Amino acid sequence: MTKKESFQQEFEQHVKIGLSKFPKFLSSKYIYDDRGDKLFQQIMDLPEYYLTTAEFNIIEQNKSDLRMLFEQDKGFDLIELGAGDGKKTKVLLEELDRHDSNFTYIPIDISQHAIDELTVSIKKVWPEMEVQGAQGTYFKILKNLVNYNQRPKVILVLGSNIGNLSHVEAIGFLKNIQEIMASEDTLLMGFDQKKDPLTIQTAYADSSGVTQEFNRNLLHRINREMDADFKVNNFEHWEAYDPETGTAKSYLIATEKCEVHIKKLHLRICFNKWETIHTEISQKYDDLIVEWLAKEAGLEIYQVFEDEKKLFKDYLFKKKK
Ligand code: AVI
Repeated sequence: MTKKESFQQEFEQHVKIGLSKFPKFLSSKYIYDDRGDKLFQQIMDLPEYYLTTAEFNIIEQNKSDLRMLFEQDKGFDLIELGAGDGKKTKVLLEELDRHDSNFTYIPIDISQHAIDELTVSIKKVWPEMEVQGAQGTYFKILKNLVNYNQRPKVILVLGSNIGNLSHVEAIGFLKNIQEIMASEDTLLMGFDQKKDPLTIQTAYADSSGVTQEFNRNLLHRINREMDADFKVNNFEHWEAYDPETGTAKSYLIATEKCEVHIKKLHLRICFNKWETIHTEISQKYDDLIVEWLAKEAGLEIYQVFEDEKKLFKDYLFKKKK
């Protein structure tokens, strides 16, 4: 079975289970097809979605310190998980290039298209830069890299992607990274912070409706790939931020009682009026939670970087001695 076929099988199984349960759920990881990727790019440019600008500010303000923390005598591999368009990373690449740092940039992404575009755009600006993009799931590639590359590693996971995981899943994710790290390696990871609840609520319920379209893309995708007949406009996006747990939850809510036929799965799903599908969590953090996650995963916080508006933090971790 090809990678694409096994992904499709996993997606179909997920839809079958998630829409048959009460309450219904679907995972946000399936939002990201080509259209979903484009909608996410649009989200990152929204004035309400402060996360991207805040992390950009952190990297811009601290690029020189970061470079000095990353540089090692034998050179290093800069490995980025979920590189996307690399907008923030390019600030670092520019800084490293300007100081003739000895490094190889290894962006890893599930989408070959994203890797190719990123590599071309980097080569245009820095033709001499060593770039070795790798397509696939993070941990398989990381494990291979450890077997073949002997240089110290700097692993980047930007954008608070970890926030789309529950705490238990996040610990598992961090542990997987920790296990392939050597004592001289570092991990730089973005964690969106707890803040005025309205700022968070608004970031995920923008006035132009892009986030609604992003969320609804799950249903468009099921319609297209599983021959289903969701009337997508009858499902409204709803965002609920809980300041106690720091969890922002996204839903799609049926505004009409309806039945959906998913032909490829031989499945008919009934929705009551106002019934929900839970589609995403975007967890917000504080230092105590990040310290706890790190400890559980065998990591320790080495340094913390914050943006000028105090909205977002990048934590530099090392393996616990
Ligand atoms: C990719 N991830 C970190 C985004 C977030 O903030 O949770 C996805 C997103 N969902 C709605 N807006 C952005």
